[in-house]
Parts: sequence; structure tokens; C-alpha cells
Amino acid sequence: MAEQKATNVHWHEGDITRDHRQKLLGHKGATLWFTGLSGSGKSTVAVELEGRLNEMGILAYRLDGDNVRLGINKNLGFSAEDRTENIRRIGEVAKLFADCGVIALSSFISPYAADRDGVRALHEASGMDFIEVFVDCPLSEAEDRDPKGLYKKARAGEIKNFTGIDDPYEAPAKPEVHLRSDQMSVAEEVDVILSALRERGILPA
Ligand code: ADX
Repeated sequence: MAEQKATNVHWHEGDITRDHRQKLLGHKGATLWFTGLSGSGKSTVAVELEGRLNEMGILAYRLDGDNVRLGINKNLGFSAEDRTENIRRIGEVAKLFADCGVIALSSFISPYAADRDGVRALHEASGMDFIEVFVDCPLSEAEDRDPKGLYKKARAGEIKNFTGIDDPYEAPAKPEVHLRSDQMSVAEEVDVILSALRERGILPA
């Protein structure tokens, strides 16, 4: 992870704790980390889940690769270093949301296992839940869907370092939730995630 550049800086504790915030909201915060190829359906399931949680009175907030790259991470591209920094920053942001008591729904390709593990470690060191959700979809299916026409461009050599084409994707070895988006409906995927959240006591049983 990134080096600490600033010196003479110290954590300033407040009076209101995570517990206070959880009582205020009536539920725990957590980070759900969706990872998978472009076009695998990460954002689609995150949008549906956010809607279902909202109906249940649970505050959730989506952090989405494309959206974040238009804002806080607009100065990052797709080199290995930039992807690592993309994930490091958004891992910190997700942790802030989870600490607030919100269910952060983070959908990024996040192709490197070490980067995802870094975000996991960040959460676990602060006693926060980190749920890795592997949105597993064969490359051939993602490429058939090609919702943004980017695979076509990558195959034509118009986009370099495109994940799955000429850039790596390291699948999670032990995700908490494993979805097969080529075999399950979005509603089924949401049900699997909600069960996992109940099992872990993040949502009431
Ligand atoms: S990550 O690798 O750093 O996690 P992120 O999820 O933020 O990627 O952004 C991926 C999105 O950027 C893709 O869904 C796609 O729309 C777009 N994109 C543009 N260029 C690339 C590229 N070279 N590789 C992957 N995605 C790209």
C-alpha cells in the first residue's frame, strides 16, 4: 500500500463512535466489494441490491468504477500502478462509508488480488466487515454482451491494456460470495447476497 508521506500527523478521536452511528441508523455498516470483468454485471447487481436494501430501510451507497473515474479518480488511467491507486483510494472511501454505518457497494474490476486483499486488511484492522463478491462471468459471455462496445475496440487494438484481452484479471480464490452472472438472474444474485449479509449478522435475520 501507499507510503505515509506526511509527518507529524496524528489521529484525532471524536466522541461519537461507530456504535452511536449504528444505533442512529438501526443497522451496521459494511463494505461489499464486487469484482469481475468489465461487462460481468457488477454495476447491474449493485443497482438492484441498492434498491432492495432501500426498500428494507437500509442505507446503502454505490461506489462505481466508471463514476468514480469521472470524479475523485479522474487523474488515474489503466496502468497497473493507476489501477492499484484507484483501488487503494476507493478502498479508503468505502471504509469511511462503512464506518459511517452505510452499506458501501463498491463495483470495480479490481483485477489484482493483492489490491483487493489490501482493502480487506484495511477493513479487518478496524473491525469492519468486508464481503468480497465475485461476479463471475466467462470472458466470452462478457464479450458477447459488450454493453459499452469496449471489447470490440480492444480487439481492434483501439484500446490498449483492456482487462481480459491484453491485461490480466486475477479471480478471487475465496470470495465470501460467488455469483455466476451467466447462469443466475439478477434477482437470484441479490437474494444470495442478502442471505450472506443475514448470515453474518450485518442484516437482521
Ligand atoms: S479497475 O481495473 O481500476 O478496477 P475500474 O472498475 O475502475 O477498473 O474501471 C473499469 C471501467 O473502465 C470498465 O468497465 C470500462 O468501462 C472502462 N475502461 C476503459 N478502459 C479500460 C481498460 N483498459 N481496461 C478495463 N476497463 C476499461
